[in-house]
Amino acid sequence: LCSQDLAGKKVLITAGPTREYLDPIRFISNRSSGKMGFALAEEAYKRGAQVTIVSGPVNINTYADIEIIHVQTASQMYQKVKDIYAQYDILIFSAAVADYRPKTTNEHKIKKENKDELAIELVKNPDILKFVGENKKPGQIIVGFSAETENVLENSQKKLEAKNADLIVANNVLEEGAGFDVDTNIVTLISKEKVENLPKMSKSEVAKRIFDHVLTYLCKM
Ligand code: C5P
Repeated sequence: LCSQDLAGKKVLITAGPTREYLDPIRFISNRSSGKMGFALAEEAYKRGAQVTIVSGPVNINTYADIEIIHVQTASQMYQKVKDIYAQYDILIFSAAVADYRPKTTNEHKIKKENKDELAIELVKNPDILKFVGENKKPGQIIVGFSAETENVLENSQKKLEAKNADLIVANNVLEEGAGFDVDTNIVTLISKEKVENLPKMSKSEVAKRIFDHVLTYLCKM
């Protein structure tokens, strides 16, 4: 029924948000359900690939044959991906990674003090996609996501270049029916060769289009 055009391929997907802890109870995070990443994983699996997801905290079930590595923080996600990325053919970075984390994580709950303002100092997290782009193995295909609220095309084209990706999947997260939580997405596929605006469609349909695009690269290799 389904074509097995990814048979023999290994696919790595990052998904979901990360959590950056201030103390054992509070964290900074991003809005992300992980639905796009899991839709990608399921599409790759149906097409015959061996699939691993490195996922932040999400509430989704999937096929037992899809390997899920659970992480919480951006640093943990980075470490995991770094350890294993070299073995994969297709790498898709759909996780909403927190750009910054608190400089220190309190061992105990931060207590309310008798002052009206409290400042949190943040430090930059490692950019996982950028690391893999810079250390790309021959034949690897890298797909990044770009969640923007303005200048979507321009920012995404910059990202394609800066992160050495083969494809950027861009969406304006403020559009109705795109982005967080919902089952649909409105994306633009941006590669060096072309810009393709897709209409609103389910996340599983978006996943199909992404792998169709990735296959055109595989065929050229
Ligand atoms: O730079 P920006 O965060 O907008 O880029 C988004 C892309 O980079 C996404 O594919 C996201 O998963 C990835 N990313 C990452 N590690 C980070 C930040 C973003 O892999 N620390």
